[in-house]
Amino acid sequence: MSDPIILGIESSCDDTSVAVIKGNKILSNIAANQEIHREYGGVVPELASRAHQQNIIPVIDKAVNKANIQQKDISAIGFTRGPGLLGSLLVGTSFAKSLSMSLHVPLIEVNHLQAHILAHFIEDANPKPPHFPFLCLTVSGGHTMIVLVKDYFDMQIIGKTIDDAAGEAFDKIGKIFGLDYPAGAIIDNLAKSGNKTAFTFNKPKLENYNYSFSGIKTSVLYFIQKEVKKNPDFIKENLDNLCASVQKTLVDILMNKLEKAASELNIKEVAIAGGVSANSGLREAMQKNTEKLGWNIYIPKFEYTTDNAAMIAMVAKLKYDLGEFADLSVSATARYDIEGEFKKDL
Ligand code: KG4
Ligand code: ZN
Repeated sequence: MSDPIILGIESSCDDTSVAVIKGNKILSNIAANQEIHREYGGVVPELASRAHQQNIIPVIDKAVNKANIQQKDISAIGFTRGPGLLGSLLVGTSFAKSLSMSLHVPLIEVNHLQAHILAHFIEDANPKPPHFPFLCLTVSGGHTMIVLVKDYFDMQIIGKTIDDAAGEAFDKIGKIFGLDYPAGAIIDNLAKSGNKTAFTFNKPKLENYNYSFSGIKTSVLYFIQKEVKKNPDFIKENLDNLCASVQKTLVDILMNKLEKAASELNIKEVAIAGGVSANSGLREAMQKNTEKLGWNIYIPKFEYTTDNAAMIAMVAKLKYDLGEFADLSVSATARYDIEGEFKKDL
């Protein structure tokens, strides 16, 4: 039998994305980013769902055309069921349902967080996919956790943030520096020409494999307020060094717990996933551990790190192989944890 062709839809936050996968190979992966949120310094849920409604049909058309397929070639429709913004999720969910109905093909629901991790199995995500069990540091704007991945759909959170997510820390600290939202990639860029030991910030001391990022945000804020009082141009004159130092601190915090978990669980297969895994400092730190600690590392290709539909299509393919289809009564859910549990939104 030939490989199934599956169309995946991602609409959990502020990117409308559609991808087509054939087997484990991505044929197209199209995203429409919503610039509108930049001026508000964060995602405005109501504007996000409206933009998804405007974007979804053109993005589906583009993905189908780029994949060079016809709608009749599609074997199933996968969509992000959650977690995310409910209004945004509803747009993707209802489109997925109507497409599956009109094309008479199965519907497959996908957990967005599992998808960030399972993106590693896309054919060109890595030179080779990770072996089970592996550890995956999942770091995005909304989530930060260390996941023990025992099988495709058998995941266990062994540590997570007790307050802000790592991406949120990048974004909020960027805001203190006067940078645009989201600031993660901007800080990463500016850090390249800065000295990462120019400033030091206190790191949290937490038990187990848990994280905390709200303390560093506050200490950066107080530090900046103090310095700006003495020199109003302090940020401008030190921006590269500030970004490099903040990035080093955040990466050190992330790697510290990941290294502790890998050593205590005796696992050398270590992956990163989610928007913050695009960070060059984090990628460099992972790379160093191949020699220092003998890790086999898995860092997905850049386009599969931030929110994208390729990862949704990948999970849909894995579920297609298992015959795990959803029926039309399936509903979007804002809260849906990586272990597969979801909480009713109403
Ligand atoms: O996974 P993602 O696209 O969306 C969520 O599910 O949250 O992650 C978005 C987050 C944002 O906080 C953004 O600032 C951060 O990923 N990010 C980065 C980089 N690129 C994106 N953070 C640090 N360095 C980067 N290069
Ligand atoms: Zn995400």
